[in-house]
Amino acid sequence: MNVLLIGASRGIGLEFARQYIDAGDRVIATARDAEGLQRLQDLGAQTMKLDVSDPASISSLSWKLDGEKLDLAIYIAGVFSTEGALSPPTQQSFDRLLHTNVLGAMQAIPQVAPWVEEAGGQFAFITSDMGRIGGVSGSRGWLYQVSKAALNMAVVAAQPDYPRAGFVLFHPGWVQTDMGTAAAPLHVEDSVSGMRRTLLGLKGAPKPPQVPFLNWDGAAFTTW
Ligand SMILES: NC(=O)c1ccc[n+]([C@@H]2O[C@H](COP(=O)([O-])OP(=O)(O)OC[C@H]3O[C@@H](n4cnc5c(N)ncnc54)[C@H](OP(=O)(O)O)[C@@H]3O)[C@@H](O)[C@H]2O)c1
Repeated sequence: MNVLLIGASRGIGLEFARQYIDAGDRVIATARDAEGLQRLQDLGAQTMKLDVSDPASISSLSWKLDGEKLDLAIYIAGVFSTEGALSPPTQQSFDRLLHTNVLGAMQAIPQVAPWVEEAGGQFAFITSDMGRIGGVSGSRGWLYQVSKAALNMAVVAAQPDYPRAGFVLFHPGWVQTDMGTAAAPLHVEDSVSGMRRTLLGLKGAPKPPQVPFLNWDGAAFTTW
């Protein structure tokens, strides 16, 4: 399989790279700094330098992928902040969260989805259950909640434009990474192997009418 991982310098993305390379797949992985690129090269990935929050940086993605047939692409890059609704968000904080979590994905979709369509492949996006609108109990992570809800909409709305690719939204669980912290109950190896298994199961199945929004273990969510 040809696999593209966007935002794979550490955490869930790096683990996807490790597991797909171990399985014998060809991995093209992006990171925004030299240390991240080196970690991916050490695993055996082909790398691209990419800052998803910078449209100038991400604008070269399509021609860098020219001619590729991607069986799977995963948009993983994301940032978190704890700020809530008791104070106004700063412009800087808003831009950091929304540019990375939403704008980057919206820049990536038109540049990557055609190469996924070439292989009749899958395009997965790592969102969060914090982007669900139903059952919200408070505003801790307000900007993050808004960004992941917006990501969900961006993905669902774009899918009909790329009918030969299968889009998928994943909540990876609460995972032990820099973002998830050591307090998280789920090991990154288990989250990633669960998502890989779920993607494999979806591959041969008829394409559902709605973009699936799935937990790491394949259980279904609703976006509302
Ligand atoms: N961990 C959890 O419990 C959890 C739960 C729900 C959803 N998620 C989602 O899962 C995804 C991965 O999170 P993680 O837990 O692996 O977090 P992480 O360990 O903090 O890793 C975040 C990744 O995103 C990359 N990234 C951030 N801003 C970027 C930018 N502007 N351009 C390119 N890459 C950028 C980081 O690269 P750098 O090394 O360059 O910063 C890093 O590779 C995120 O979308 C997150 O929202 C995580």
